[in-house]
Amino acid sequence: MAKQSKIKPAKGKLGVLLPGMGSVATTFIAGVIAVRRGISQPIGSYTQMGRIRLGKRTEKRSPKIKEFVPLTKLDDIVFGGWDVYKDNVYKAAVHAKVLDKQLLDEIKDELKQIKPMKAVFDKNYVKRLDGKHVKKGKTKMDLAKALMEDIKTFKKVNKCARLVMVWCGSTEIYMEEAACHQSIKALEKGLRENDENIPPSMIYAYAAIKMGVPYANGAPNLSADVPALVQLSKKNNVPIGGKDFKTGQTLMKTILTPGFKARSLGINGWFSTNILGNRDGAVLDDPDNFKTKEVSKLGVIEHILKPEENPELYGNIYHKVRINYYPPRGDNKEGWDNIDIAGWLGYPMQIKVDFLCRDSILAAPIVLDLALLLDLANRSDLKGIQEWLGFFFKSPQTKKGLPPMHDLFKQLMKINNTLRYLKEEELITHLGLDYYY
Ligand SMILES: NC(=O)c1ccc[n+]([C@@H]2O[C@H](COP(=O)([O-])OP(=O)(O)OC[C@H]3O[C@@H](n4cnc5c(N)ncnc54)[C@H](O)[C@@H]3O)[C@@H](O)[C@H]2O)c1
Repeated sequence: MAKQSKIKPAKGKLGVLLPGMGSVATTFIAGVIAVRRGISQPIGSYTQMGRIRLGKRTEKRSPKIKEFVPLTKLDDIVFGGWDVYKDNVYKAAVHAKVLDKQLLDEIKDELKQIKPMKAVFDKNYVKRLDGKHVKKGKTKMDLAKALMEDIKTFKKVNKCARLVMVWCGSTEIYMEEAACHQSIKALEKGLRENDENIPPSMIYAYAAIKMGVPYANGAPNLSADVPALVQLSKKNNVPIGGKDFKTGQTLMKTILTPGFKARSLGINGWFSTNILGNRDGAVLDDPDNFKTKEVSKLGVIEHILKPEENPELYGNIYHKVRINYYPPRGDNKEGWDNIDIAGWLGYPMQIKVDFLCRDSILAAPIVLDLALLLDLANRSDLKGIQEWLGFFFKSPQTKKGLPPMHDLFKQLMKINNTLRYLKEEELITHLGLDYYY
């Protein structure tokens, strides 16, 4: 492995730009402010609470991640973003009903100051929304240029040294790669000619990467996961990552499935259903938008179990995922899993998981970790798809032809080893000779 060049220091302010300032984004912003003021703890955040072992076990070195690598301090983060509704972050957070009003009132002064910029939005891609806080432009390229102006102005006004962008907008309708996604030239032509294969999330991703701003996609939309934007990210030395924050049911799947496989237990069926009542649930109630999410959720267990290699154990799994919009629950989703497993001589057993989770509480620390680690990647001269950030995603973006890695524990090893590599520490693979003798 080539020697890593020095990581540039995290000097000055980091602007975190969020297209989509709904439940996840406002829970992230309010959470960081609450932690900054000493009101709460950043629980669930790998960078803030996680530790990394260095050297041999006997050395007893395990600093916190934030002490090991030079990350931007929470005090140096500035928030910005866009939404199709013009509510400030306080109002949007009250509407989202994720955090207690009492907590939001304590930090109201700061939250009220953060107001979304006008969005690039098209109802054809998210039918269940119809906000009016939207930019006008003749072509998609005009809209991309308007976003680039926003980015420039935000950086100047807030005196930011660096920026990152994390898509927290709604899930768009299901789309597949098209001709205009194949090269930078084709994408730019498509933007000028209003090609229908370019959804708003792709316009944001183009604007960010064009401006040298690292981009992560928290939804399952194609967005930056097309050859044109991967090429542009390499050309402009910009790190990118996606797709779809790994929270809730999929997080549980990538924790449980490696365990079944490790013990060679068979699986006959896995039925997952969810009830949720937030705006995300309303958007996903539309079959075209659900399809995007379904594809993102379904791949996970097949990729871990590799049924083609293990047909006796996993060759005949019935895997079904359902999402049901149920307003009374708001953001407090309930995810049920019924898993039909098989043991010695094929004897069947069942496992039931009932996860009463809070979607945005699980997603907010991921937004923070992605923002800080993408910025670290940028200061370390890493560019293109950052596969080591797959730890945070339901459908990790990978180089063309490579299967994604979903197993949470392999992902953890990869992210930890990447940080060790960046800091020129010995990689830990548990294969050192001292382990066996
Ligand atoms: N909460 C989770 O656990 C979780 C997990 C994985 C992925 N996600 C994804 O993260 C995204 C955000 O989730 P949420 O719960 O905050 O949803 P939300 O509906 O509360 O917020 C999304 C916001 O994006 C805005 N928006 C939509 N299109 C936009 C555009 N083109 N430009 C600017 N703003 C736009 C909407 O107006 C809304 O305010 C969704 O795509 C969701 O599927 C969430």
